[in-house]
Amino acid sequence: MTEKPTMIAFQDVHKYYGDYHALRGITATIKAGEFFSLLGPSGCGKTTLLRTIAGFEGISSGAVMIDGRNMAGVPANQRPTNMVFQSYAIFPHLTVGENVGFGLRRAGLTKDALAARVGEALDMVGLKGYGARAAHALSGGQRQRVALARALILKPKVLLLDEPLSALDKKMREQMQVELIRLQRQVGITFILVTHDQEEALVMSDRIAVMFEGEIAQLADPETLYRRPNSRKVADFIGTMNFLPASILSETGGKLEVEAQGFGKVTLEAEQAPGAASGEGAAVGFRPETLTILFEGQTATDRESMATIEEVVYYGDMTYYDVRLDGTEKPIRISMRNVFGRPVLDIGARTRVAWSPGALVLFR
Ligand SMILES: Nc1ncnc2c1ncn2[C@@H]1O[C@H](COP(=O)(O)OP(=O)(O)O)[C@@H](O)[C@H]1O
Ligand SMILES: [Mg+2]
Repeated sequence: MTEKPTMIAFQDVHKYYGDYHALRGITATIKAGEFFSLLGPSGCGKTTLLRTIAGFEGISSGAVMIDGRNMAGVPANQRPTNMVFQSYAIFPHLTVGENVGFGLRRAGLTKDALAARVGEALDMVGLKGYGARAAHALSGGQRQRVALARALILKPKVLLLDEPLSALDKKMREQMQVELIRLQRQVGITFILVTHDQEEALVMSDRIAVMFEGEIAQLADPETLYRRPNSRKVADFIGTMNFLPASILSETGGKLEVEAQGFGKVTLEAEQAPGAASGEGAAVGFRPETLTILFEGQTATDRESMATIEEVVYYGDMTYYDVRLDGTEKPIRISMRNVFGRPVLDIGARTRVAWSPGALVLFR
């Protein structure tokens, strides 16, 4: 596959609101045609960064490039971007079609040409035939689609989406996530999504920038972020991560010899220690599904440890076990897919736990 060209480049972008340092040296590139997400807790600067692309927010220093062009001094309405807002403001007194065509009303199109463009945009978002309906009568999900159609009709190179699904209920949100992915593939333009929902970012994105306090902590594809988070903070923000104290015995030829509580001596590859030193002391991290409770007759394919079950949470399809590996002080979580006919273990039971050094991430 050929490398996609760069659509957005942030070059050491800083933004101050008065004394408040909201963006602290953002350097990153977003490729053409990419579904890119800005993910982080509330207040970390996601919306601010998105607005610097749109041109709604000036920057204090650095540069924002779009399609190879420095955007300094380029007003929002002359940028090849369009934004779908958190609260998608639909004009309730207009029809769906009038809402969608709103941005084109001064484009000098004939009535027929405008109607064709509106029809095309409505078709794209699954609202074919809704043009004459009153906008105020729409459901939340339909309003969302109208907002999308209104943005897409202007044929931007980049669509900016600021928490567009946060007002929808869980079921509707999941449905719209799938539709947004489909839509992005269909139109092929760059989508940049702001979300504080890690699951949403993982499901939807080609790549994700995880932000904390005005900085990008890690920028990677979903699998890398999940499997190889570069800090405890990123690991904690995305999914559940267990941690056990560890010490580094040696580091040679791209391999690390580590002594980890509960696991003993393990050899890790350099890529299993993707982060910089934090000064917090070393620890190994691992996801709940990378460990397996061994039932009678089962054997580990790699390594195994003894443990005691301390808590059991039954979810129907899954059971979460909090277990304490021998030689450790605090329980870790193991998630197990339930198998029909196999009993759920009781609190206090002794069990063997299978694990693999390859699933460990070293934080130092
Ligand atoms: N117009 C503004 N004036 C002053 N501070 C602002 C303004 N907009 C945002 N901030 C502050 O900048 C920080 C980042 O805000 P924002 O980009 O909206 O975060 P997010 O979208 O990640 O929740 C927050 O602390 C917020 O209070
Ligand atoms: Mg925001």
